[in-house]
Amino acid sequence: MTETTTSLVIFGASGDLASRKLVPALHGLHRKKRLDEGVRIVGFSRSQHSDEEFRERMKDAASDSPADLSAWDAFAERLFYVSGDSTVPDDFERLDHRLRELEGARANRIYYLAVAPKLYEPTVTHLGLKGMASEERGERRVVIEKPFGRDLESARRLNRAVRAVFKEKQIYRIDHYLGKETAQNILYFRFANTVFEPIWNRNYVDHVQITVAESVDVASRASFYDEIGVVRDMFQSHLLQLMTLVAMEPPYSFEADALRNEKAKVLSAVRSPDPRGLDGISVRGQYRGYLETEGVKASSRTATYAVLKLWIENWRWQGVPFYLRSGKALAGKHSEILVVFRRPPHSLFPLPPGARLRNNYLAICIQPDEGMHFRFEAKVPDTAAELRPIDMEFHYADDFNGIEIPPAYERLLVDALHGDPALFAREDEVELSWKIVDPVLHSFESENGPPLELYEVGTWGPKGAEELMARDGLGWLHGCGGH
Ligand code: BG6
Repeated sequence: MTETTTSLVIFGASGDLASRKLVPALHGLHRKKRLDEGVRIVGFSRSQHSDEEFRERMKDAASDSPADLSAWDAFAERLFYVSGDSTVPDDFERLDHRLRELEGARANRIYYLAVAPKLYEPTVTHLGLKGMASEERGERRVVIEKPFGRDLESARRLNRAVRAVFKEKQIYRIDHYLGKETAQNILYFRFANTVFEPIWNRNYVDHVQITVAESVDVASRASFYDEIGVVRDMFQSHLLQLMTLVAMEPPYSFEADALRNEKAKVLSAVRSPDPRGLDGISVRGQYRGYLETEGVKASSRTATYAVLKLWIENWRWQGVPFYLRSGKALAGKHSEILVVFRRPPHSLFPLPPGARLRNNYLAICIQPDEGMHFRFEAKVPDTAAELRPIDMEFHYADDFNGIEIPPAYERLLVDALHGDPALFAREDEVELSWKIVDPVLHSFESENGPPLELYEVGTWGPKGAEELMARDGLGWLHGCGGH
């Protein structure tokens, strides 16, 4: 009996995501011999190309990156192309026909929706109408990119439309942050060790800071970005997902539903922000010059930066604020999570007037310079009693010398191909996340939301972000070094 092959169909194959992330990740897997022999990749989009032209285009895109192109020719033989429109039913018939020719009798299929979000629903609906979701001739899965909806209501609608065609176990809602090694390592760090878990709660943790800062501006994605802004782009997905990994209870296993049940519990426990009272808990900013970007509306009030302070109302986290911030055009690209521990209750050591003992913290460095820093106080040698903070550091580059950190998409594509949804968001997680950010979006889009503060390109964002922390007697910490 011949082995069942798999067709990975990329809708939106001539777009940015396919050429910059998906095909290079698949090529990377091929080079490492992690892409099963029987996997073929079929691009589908409106541009007219032959298989050969598609292969050349993808090669051009992949050669922009430093990836090793040595195995390209063998990889290219896996690539095929069908031109068609996601809104035209006949084009799905042609696609299906071509797939059947390539597949022979039986094959699994993964439909990857790397198209504009407004095309998710028509694409899925046509797959259903043309019988392409039926599992008679092999397994069928669909991978859907973010943003999944633009608010709770549209996410629910989209979930209903997708669920009308595919079962939940066939649906893979992607959040590429979950594919990052350092995000996965949060779970290994917490649950493969014993030392931190006993203090990972309100008794020892003062607050948590989650920062995803980017130096890039909105560039060529301006017209898309202007419609969504930072809260939909980053908070509803990446930041809330990172928060769940930090805050969740230990799942009983690493199996998808065990894990996702615990994440959903965290999201359910987040106190819903009151849209009338966002002043003290959120900040929104826009970088200077954003309005001059081609594709941005002249009077746009879209936020390119935001802070949100959240509470998780459960036994473990009662009273511990989680500060989330993200923005574009900032002074640097860095994503980090700081778990800041409480101060010692009493100091035995003489401190300068007005000084207090500092907090210990654990910095989880998501990127760049992946690793962890643990900060604690030490006595400075040859002084009577002077204290200084010291960092104990773990860097992937030193400790896993020679092991390259793979791009997030590699791991997620392998999981989708093998049918493991653990690192993908389930229906309830997506809706619960929208439920948290919806009031913020409403407030930001209303007349009485927090003021839209301008900030200079290349800084760490608007003044209001510092003021929000200062009101709580805190400051933003850069725990992973570098600035
Ligand atoms: C994407 C957002 O999901 O994540 C982009 O749409 C953002 O706006 C990107 O730039 C950041 O990803 P990374 O992996 O570079 O941190």
